[in-house]
Amino acid sequence: MRLAKIAAAAAIALISSAAFAQTVKIGFISTYSGLNANLGEYMERGMRLYMKQHEKELPPGVKIEILVRDDTGPNPDKAKQLAQELIVRDKVNLLTGVIWTPNAMSMAPLATEAKVPFIIMNAGTAVITTRSPYIARLSFTLWQSSYPLGTWAARKYNTAYTLVSDFGPGHDAEQAFSQAFAAGGGKVLASVRVPLQNPDWAAYMQRVKDAKPDALMVFIPAGKTATAVMKNFGDLGLGQTGIKLIGPGDITTDEELSNMGDVALGVTTMFHYSAAGDRPANQAFVAAWKKEYGANATPNFVSVGGWDGMAAIFHVIKAQKGKIDPDKTMELLKSFKNPNSPRGPISIDPETRDIVQNEYLREVRRVGGQLVNVELETFAAAVKDPWKELQKKK
Ligand code: PHB
Repeated sequence: MRLAKIAAAAAIALISSAAFAQTVKIGFISTYSGLNANLGEYMERGMRLYMKQHEKELPPGVKIEILVRDDTGPNPDKAKQLAQELIVRDKVNLLTGVIWTPNAMSMAPLATEAKVPFIIMNAGTAVITTRSPYIARLSFTLWQSSYPLGTWAARKYNTAYTLVSDFGPGHDAEQAFSQAFAAGGGKVLASVRVPLQNPDWAAYMQRVKDAKPDALMVFIPAGKTATAVMKNFGDLGLGQTGIKLIGPGDITTDEELSNMGDVALGVTTMFHYSAAGDRPANQAFVAAWKKEYGANATPNFVSVGGWDGMAAIFHVIKAQKGKIDPDKTMELLKSFKNPNSPRGPISIDPETRDIVQNEYLREVRRVGGQLVNVELETFAAAVKDPWKELQKKK
């Protein structure tokens, strides 16, 4: 009798826990091989650190399962194939990650077709969010950094030269910077687009040197490419001739500064995140990062994209108690905000599903023996993607 009672109680417990158990499956596509292969890990670590710190907030019985996939770099066909498999075979509730614009663009129609919300943690070309109503972006746009950079640069310099990687975010950086620089009275001497993979940096830098601009604005993808640009800028002596290197923060990505060396000193950038930001939320984030990943580890903007992307995912999971409805999820994402992100206050613009955030003017300086991006001022607060704002006015 007693045994039967225990067995019955156990059976009920088993049934009810099965009934309440709710696993949210998340397809995470990022880059672990090919061009700038280390960026995937920065993103995944940011995402996992958020999960670790906030797991207790999940509703009882709700679990998160992350399916990690390597898109091998800017490879839209591969990203599309992975997303298709994650949707059809693995039946993920959400898609996330994605370093590269071309990959996000190829995935967008799948998100729409399958009604799978897609939370972008990096890819920054302005147009991406217009390609599917199921996309929300928790990273940045290149217009957000490069447009204010152009405004600032026009106050300091008469002439500029732009050098960008020849793909979506490069085109956006070039256009945004040039438009704002010209509006402020500056003159762009030349706009050069270089191949995304292994351009002959020495040759390009020589052309810049010959043109003698006051400032050189560069966009290249963060990671090792940024260090290659910095090295060639130094080797060809552009700094000595008085040319100032400026750009969105991708060119002084925090984790590469120690590999760049003194040539990076004084480089001025506009960006939404610096590991050296002195906001308490950022200091706590960087301390947690070092505790988790080692005293010499430094998070970068891709890490914060992973962190904030996961914060948005937690928001939709908690509000729906783990039962992900695609349309409800998009409504919830449209009202997501966090006054205390490591990068400062952020929110999602409900009209565009794109992030709203501060842009900081920064300069590389040596602080306590380390090169860091010192935030000099909040140059523009609560910035919406300027490309979309200017489109509205047309
Ligand atoms: C992009 O493909 O959108 C991208 C890649 C690397 C960056 C920024 C943007 O540093």
